Amino acid sequence: MNKVVIVGSGGREHALAHVIGRDAEVTVTPGNPAIPNSIETSPLQLDADLFVVGPEAPLVNGLADELRNQGKLVFGPGADGAQLEGSKAWMKDLLMEAGVPTAQYGAFTEVEPAMTYLETMSAPYVVKTDGLAAGKGVLVTNNLPEAQKAVHEYLSGAAFGSAGEKVVIEEGMAGPEISILAICDGNKAVALSPAQDFKRLLDHDQGPNTGGMGAYSPVPSAEPELISEVLDMFIKPTMATLKQRGIDYRGVLYAGLMLTKAGPKLLEYNVRFGDPEAQVVLPRLETSLTQLLLEAAMGDIRMEPVFTSDAMVTVICATKGYPLSPQTGHQIEGIQEARDSRGIEEIFCAGIDINVNQQLVTAGGRVLAVTGRGVDIEEARMFAYSGANKIQWEGLQKREDIAGEV
Ligand code: AMP
Ligand code: GLY
Repeated sequence: MNKVVIVGSGGREHALAHVIGRDAEVTVTPGNPAIPNSIETSPLQLDADLFVVGPEAPLVNGLADELRNQGKLVFGPGADGAQLEGSKAWMKDLLMEAGVPTAQYGAFTEVEPAMTYLETMSAPYVVKTDGLAAGKGVLVTNNLPEAQKAVHEYLSGAAFGSAGEKVVIEEGMAGPEISILAICDGNKAVALSPAQDFKRLLDHDQGPNTGGMGAYSPVPSAEPELISEVLDMFIKPTMATLKQRGIDYRGVLYAGLMLTKAGPKLLEYNVRFGDPEAQVVLPRLETSLTQLLLEAAMGDIRMEPVFTSDAMVTVICATKGYPLSPQTGHQIEGIQEARDSRGIEEIFCAGIDINVNQQLVTAGGRVLAVTGRGVDIEEARMFAYSGANKIQWEGLQKREDIAGEV
């Protein structure tokens, strides 16, 4: 049996472990006390047939390169390719070169030209940090003074430190959003089944942007033609341009798309699996994820991933105060009852720690994701919520409308 090390500690890594663990021996590092086979050690100290790096930060910081330099087989781009997520300006420049449809933009390090450019735009105004800001560096607003204030705060370093010292100002687009994740081997790519996530904190898409409060897959409105269009118009030209730049991209290329009236446009690329998209897409695989990621890491994908027609819905349970100031340290009740509840695929555990009394306590904003499986979205949603309703801690917040109107 293959040995696989998964790097990371969140719900996405738990989902990877759950699905890779169907046919491989899995270790998660550092993981967390609620993910089986978690060990707190450096991945550089471990041995395995395959390393899968989950989060963006270690990828941007070159962990995949370090592991490859040790002769290890790795799924995840090197620091060069990870710039697609590490620098929005670098990504946008590559999109222009590749001819990928995306919002018009300008990138700035000085206030004055940024303000001049902003005034040429019309609402909604979109201001982003160039660097990584844990999914929080994006402002979309109809209020020009608010956008101007953000530009000042980002560029001065007051809001996001060095991540904001370059800003990207974009044309505001409108339309439904969809996430399509492609698995790349440096030359070719295969698409996974699409997912839709719910980025805003509150029901009816109100409140601040978060890392994602829930997701579902498949997306009934995403016709198979859309997936081949995305492969042809987005993923393939991006891979070709990466290659021209000498970048051997072996990992996930996650296309965040907006389906505008003028056709699909790219909002952003991520260089990792989406969270919570992974918690609904990966368990729907009927073919081996281990094999797919091994082939990608070796530079030659031969298999075509096959998905069950079953639907999955995941509901995130978050702490009070998330995303601005998560309150942690509260005892978590009901995980086992939820896991045993009908139609539950798994409870994917993220911001969880263990206290001196060996009880599970909240330790991060997004604490866990409850994934339900059903014959359709409606049934999967019903199971996900009946599981999620068995889980409690002080101040737990979740959306009640995930996958409600699909
Ligand atoms: P990002 O992290 O770049 O995907 O942005 C987070 C969210 O902000 C996206 O999921 C969209 O809802 C919104 N957003 C980002 N860029 C734009 C844009 N150019 N026009 C409208 N909304 C956007
Ligand atoms: N769910 C959005 C993300 O992973 O960035």
